[in-house]
Amino acid sequence: MDIKSVGVVGAGQMGNGIAHVLAVAGYDVLLNDISEDNLSRALAQIDKNLERQVSREKITAEDKATALARIKTTLKLTDLGPSDLIIEAATERETVKTAIFEDLLPHLKPETILTSNTSSISITRLASRTDRPEKFMGFHFMNPVPVMQLVELIRGIATDEQTYQACLKVVENIGKTAASAEDFPAFIVNRILMPMINEAVYTLYEGVGSVKSIDESMKLGANHPMGPLELADFIGLDTCLAIMNVLHDGLADTKYRPCPLLTKYVEAGWLGRKTQRGFYDYR
Ligand code: CAA
Repeated sequence: MDIKSVGVVGAGQMGNGIAHVLAVAGYDVLLNDISEDNLSRALAQIDKNLERQVSREKITAEDKATALARIKTTLKLTDLGPSDLIIEAATERETVKTAIFEDLLPHLKPETILTSNTSSISITRLASRTDRPEKFMGFHFMNPVPVMQLVELIRGIATDEQTYQACLKVVENIGKTAASAEDFPAFIVNRILMPMINEAVYTLYEGVGSVKSIDESMKLGANHPMGPLELADFIGLDTCLAIMNVLHDGLADTKYRPCPLLTKYVEAGWLGRKTQRGFYDYR
């Protein structure tokens, strides 16, 4: 199937980045959210990020204008019905995602491919709640979407080859690289990244190093672009904790137990950059 139009559900940090890269690559994008404010904020963010690319001569001002014109927004989920591909990037809660798919399904064409940008929820389980498990897969972008090269493509147990190939073509068309992952808790990137972040929090919790020394050690000692605690603040400590819980529950191994300090920060509402406070103070 030749994908031309994409419906993106959720206009948050991931959703607006996904709309951005698809539009630059020539796809018609319909971006949906439940709040008009979120949609306006998303368009402003896309404008700003495109401008950044213009100023760095990655794209021209004309490319920016064409990309922006390709992005339409809607508050009505059902308007996404005629899209060839759906990428769901709503809140990382299974009940929210399944409710979105249930509302959307009666309006979709039979050949439409359904995907989720989930970072850790089982693709097989999400797919089983739809009428098309063979046309369902994980389409997991990394943050910040316009910059990060990787997309994880996760097959559920029933995903067919045509669906995988169609999604792979989209990843290639947007100039990114796909990593194929099987559907096990947290897939590949977060299976490896989150235990490292969790270990960095344990390193802080046990007094082995300060926030600064832990981050500096990994930046200068392992050439990571961000220290693990800075990265945790960037991702969101609630997201990090949720993914550790998925690993802990799904793999039943104590090596994945979330650090009590991570839990405490989340309980305090110190979720990182988005709340202006996490391991660092952004106020
Ligand atoms: N949109 C467009 N371009 C952007 C951008 C955005 N939102 N953010 C940064 N950029 C561009 C900048 O314009 C700049 O471009 P040039 O190379 O052309 O100059 C480049 O990215 C680097 O940006 P900066 O110079 O502003 O800042 P930096 O060098 O400190 O890099 C960073 C910022 C790219 C975020 C870098 O620190 C980094 O790679 N950090 C690690 C990010 C990471 O690990 N992400 C994965 C998180 S895990 C995940 O997403 C999975 C999950 O499910 C939780």
